[in-house]
Amino acid sequence: MLTPIQELQRFAQGAVGVEGLGKLALIELKRQVDGHVGDTGKLSKEHFAVWAASQDLAVLIPAAEAIITKSGIAGAAQPTPSGDSSDELAGVLRKVLSRPAGVDEAAVNAIIERKLAVALQGLAPHRIVVSQAGEVTLTDCVHPMFESVLREIAAGNNVLLVGPAGTGKTTLAGHVAQALKRQHSILHFSGGMSEADITGRLLPVKEGMTFDFVESDALRCYSEGNALITFDEIDRADSNTLTCAHAPLSNGHWFVQARFKAPLVDRGENVGFIATANTWGSGADRMYVGANQLDAATLNRWNTQIEIDYNCKLEEQLATAYALPVIHLAQIWEIRQRMQEANLRRIVSTRNIISAARSLQAGTSWEQILIQTITPGWTHQERVTVGVAK
Ligand SMILES: Nc1ncnc2c1ncn2[C@@H]1O[C@H](COP(=O)(O)OP(=O)(O)OP(=O)(O)O)[C@@H](O)[C@H]1O
Ligand SMILES: [Mg+2]
Repeated sequence: MLTPIQELQRFAQGAVGVEGLGKLALIELKRQVDGHVGDTGKLSKEHFAVWAASQDLAVLIPAAEAIITKSGIAGAAQPTPSGDSSDELAGVLRKVLSRPAGVDEAAVNAIIERKLAVALQGLAPHRIVVSQAGEVTLTDCVHPMFESVLREIAAGNNVLLVGPAGTGKTTLAGHVAQALKRQHSILHFSGGMSEADITGRLLPVKEGMTFDFVESDALRCYSEGNALITFDEIDRADSNTLTCAHAPLSNGHWFVQARFKAPLVDRGENVGFIATANTWGSGADRMYVGANQLDAATLNRWNTQIEIDYNCKLEEQLATAYALPVIHLAQIWEIRQRMQEANLRRIVSTRNIISAARSLQAGTSWEQILIQTITPGWTHQERVTVGVAK
């Protein structure tokens, strides 16, 4: 896959027209154009050249001329053709390149906004029809696997989401609850948790300090119904403790001994379960050293298991939402790619991308962000490998 900058370079070389540019390349083009409009509100040839040079896109200028020639527009006096946006852009570029230079910012924006609107079509809002919830509209960016997970939960399956850190698994579970209009309870699993954390505990809450059963939020949701219960980071749990959470996954009731007055809890209507994990339940590996091996009986109850990986489409949308310039997103992707190729024991996650965007907004320099947010704690040699250090 080409990075947006590579796309722009191909555009610059005349290998692809503006119609062939992807959304990110267009956003970057627009951002660069926006950022180089002078005080007069006109985009000057000099500004354009400075930008092109600063982006190692100096070839853009002759290429623009090539596009202009190809589209058959001759001479600066030629009126901007309407209709085809390639020709229209060529017309605007022609004006940029003509002397005295100057182009109407609105003209550039109008073309690129229109291209963007087409490119962004179908991304948001996201409409999905689910039998139980009717039509669902989510305005948030969702992971491309969202729809599959939603359908599985609506169909009554227990869904295990597996993927590296920070891909959006926990967020996706929240989106499913939101879309199905269900209450959402999350159990954060760890090796040290007890059965009481899952179901509830006896506490001296009654008059005279006598004990009564205080149910967990998950148990309350289970009995009330219309709920999604997320077993977050299930591969961090002690595999034996997890046994007490087997019953609700496969039976219509949950027998909770500590609820001594009425231990049998019936399952309410429309209760679904999602679990998240970094591993497939086979135990710790060199990255996820805190993961535990899961019992086969536990794994068998998660009848749909879906991989959630880093997704460029989602990251593009988040980068736009968090105002992270595409050029920086492209660099992060490149770091990730080199990291994977070199088999480094490191992670560059969607979470890191959002943190980088936040730091940039707060005024931190990009060089500093690359060190402290994208490659924190990496060795110099690792940074050299991914191109962050020399
Ligand atoms: N669809 C999304 N919309 C907005 N933010 C998102 C989305 N997906 C992920 N994020 C953000 O990315 C970060 C990582 O997401 P999340 O915590 O869901 O990942 P995870 O896969 O559960 O990670 P881990 O395996 O480490 O628990 C969070 O800051 C979250 O807010
Ligand atoms: Mg998570």
